[in-house]
Amino acid sequence: MIYSLLRPVLFSLDPEQAHEFTLFSLAKANKLGLASKPRITCQPVSKMGLTFPNPVGLAPGMDKNGDCIDGLAALGFGFLELGTVTPRPQAGNPKPRLFRLPEVNGVINRMGFNNNGVDNLIRNIQKSKFFADGGIIGINIGKNFDTPIERAVDDYLICLRRAFPYASYITINISSPNTKNLRQLQEGHELQNLLTSIQQERERLTIEHARHVPVALKIAPDLETEQIEHIAQLVLNLGIDALIATNTTISRDEIQGHPLAREAGGLSGGPVFEKSTAVLQQFAHKLQGKTTLIGVGGIDTAERAIAKLKAGADLVQIYSGMVFKGPDLITDSIKACSQFLVSKSY
Ligand SMILES: Cc1cc2nc3c(=O)[nH]c(=O)nc-3n(C[C@H](O)[C@H](O)[C@H](O)COP(=O)(O)O)c2cc1C
Repeated sequence: MIYSLLRPVLFSLDPEQAHEFTLFSLAKANKLGLASKPRITCQPVSKMGLTFPNPVGLAPGMDKNGDCIDGLAALGFGFLELGTVTPRPQAGNPKPRLFRLPEVNGVINRMGFNNNGVDNLIRNIQKSKFFADGGIIGINIGKNFDTPIERAVDDYLICLRRAFPYASYITINISSPNTKNLRQLQEGHELQNLLTSIQQERERLTIEHARHVPVALKIAPDLETEQIEHIAQLVLNLGIDALIATNTTISRDEIQGHPLAREAGGLSGGPVFEKSTAVLQQFAHKLQGKTTLIGVGGIDTAERAIAKLKAGADLVQIYSGMVFKGPDLITDSIKACSQFLVSKSY
């Protein structure tokens, strides 16, 4: 109700300003005690050794720096994935770099991992009530734009070490289309080398910190069947805990003729739903329930959240849909997914 009044105001602003204003207002409202968690029946989900209070999470990119952790938690999410963060702060690509496509509930972004660095995120996590209360926080990590791709592993290892004591799980993001050559890391030997290094360091950190932190891999929707097979095999062989399908797409097939179709960047929201769900389904088929699957991409109705579960997801995440539908999308999706999971368990 409040969002339907607020939406025209937000949509009259530049998309990036609207985003910053929303996070700022949510954080303020939460501080003033005006944001309270919706009272709905949730179905907990136990995966990766964690118990998620409900299966609907916040996708990364919305709160890259952890500026609004408690405000976002008050919307009812079962878990929050923050980031992408890089070892060093960086400004990202020149503006404008974020575009709304309201006709199709779509977003195009070429933000380029604008973030204040991994250490800043960790300070914000430590200050949050959500963290103190044991809320589930995923930390999504990437590489700085000026780190050569051959040295990318170093950046992931730096972030892994910093994030390890504070994350419920850590996501290796190799699927943003907005960092030059990043998606190369999804290929053959490069992926094998990266994941092997991550797993070796994770084993060392597990002993050092006496805690297990699951590792997730986030992939693009723009993958050929052969690539999907290769990634699935590596994930199984190396014991990666979760696969997150998917990031944004570079394809413009779904928005042909749209005035913004030629803007460079990743397309998300409604137009990525089919492609993203098809990739999720292919991974579900290959992974056979041995790896946790998180479905993200184009959830703009509760029905679409359920469609991700039906395609094989254990958990789902939402970003773009919230821009168009507001917080009701979260509550509706939590209710619908919880009901679906309960009915499935009978
Ligand atoms: C503005 C914007 C910024 C994003 N930034 C990140 C990011 O930093 N890291 C990441 O893994 N995904 C990022 N994403 C991708 C989302 O997490 C999600 O995978 C994708 O948008 C598909 O979900 P959706 O259709 O619900 O938005 C971003 C998406 C948008 C729209």
